Amino acid sequence: MIAKASAPAKTILFGEHSVVYGEPAIAGAVNKRAYITIKESDCEKTIFRAPDIGFEAELMSRFKKYILLKGKPGIIRYILECLYRVHDHSPIDITLNSNVPIGSGLGSSAAVTVAMLAALYRYHNIRFNKKSLAHDAHMVEQAVQGVASPLDTLVSTYGGLVYLSRNKKVEHFNVNFNVPFVVGYTTKHGNTGKMVKDVKNLKTRNPKIINPVITSMGNLTNYAKQAILKGDFDKIGELMNINHGFLDVLGVNTLELSRMVYNAREAGAIGAKTTGAGGGGSIIALCPGKVDEVASAIDRDDNILKIRFTRKGVSSRVYRD
Ligand code: MEV
Repeated sequence: MIAKASAPAKTILFGEHSVVYGEPAIAGAVNKRAYITIKESDCEKTIFRAPDIGFEAELMSRFKKYILLKGKPGIIRYILECLYRVHDHSPIDITLNSNVPIGSGLGSSAAVTVAMLAALYRYHNIRFNKKSLAHDAHMVEQAVQGVASPLDTLVSTYGGLVYLSRNKKVEHFNVNFNVPFVVGYTTKHGNTGKMVKDVKNLKTRNPKIINPVITSMGNLTNYAKQAILKGDFDKIGELMNINHGFLDVLGVNTLELSRMVYNAREAGAIGAKTTGAGGGGSIIALCPGKVDEVASAIDRDDNILKIRFTRKGVSSRVYRD
């Protein structure tokens, strides 16, 4: 029997960092996916392979341990945590294929976790639905990372654009948001935990300055929600630019991030901002009609990915011999 599942990566459009203080956020699934295939092992061992990133390991799922055979560990802790929670520890063969570049800031860990859990549930014939899957995937991320917002796993499960409100209510946008974006990313990786802590310290030292900024970021996200519902792309672009300025105030932008943002705007993007935690990582630029110009402007110094938002969330199937 072979079980297969795939799940999309995500990007945050509005609300990173302010979401940590209960403000709303908007994130969406993109047309880059992680694909997991599980089948019985043809040896006595459980083997995990990710050929796209040149990674291979032998797994001891019962003990959450692995022997590295090839490549850098990266995503392996998420795979082990899923196996530990769901698998009966019999020898299996797991393959991860992905067109989500590691380090592109597109939440590849959530996509991998959601796809891995869905494939495991199929393999073991365990009933699940999107609600239970999003919950379980969030638990895995939390176990691995210590802290994680539920946004990434929610978006990777359901697909589409998601609005998380001030009282943590999830709303799915029922709009066709098929407009091109370019993601730019640097080889310098940000550390989410450190960036969240740095913002907290800045806020503690300067509450009267930073607290109103965080509230304004929440208000901005709510304006953005209205602009998305109306399909008003000029407004969305303007709000992205303001949001980048707020992220600058919070101290999470870097030379590379701002370079990509200004290169994108100069090449015709109607909005460009840091996406995710900052401190390295990635930016997102809204550039209808100017995708190639924006992509080559960023590409001069950094890396690019052309993306679109997609409604397609997790999908899974089982094939019997
Ligand atoms: C990181 O992708 C987004 C942050 O807001 C942290 C979080 O929401 O967990 C910086």
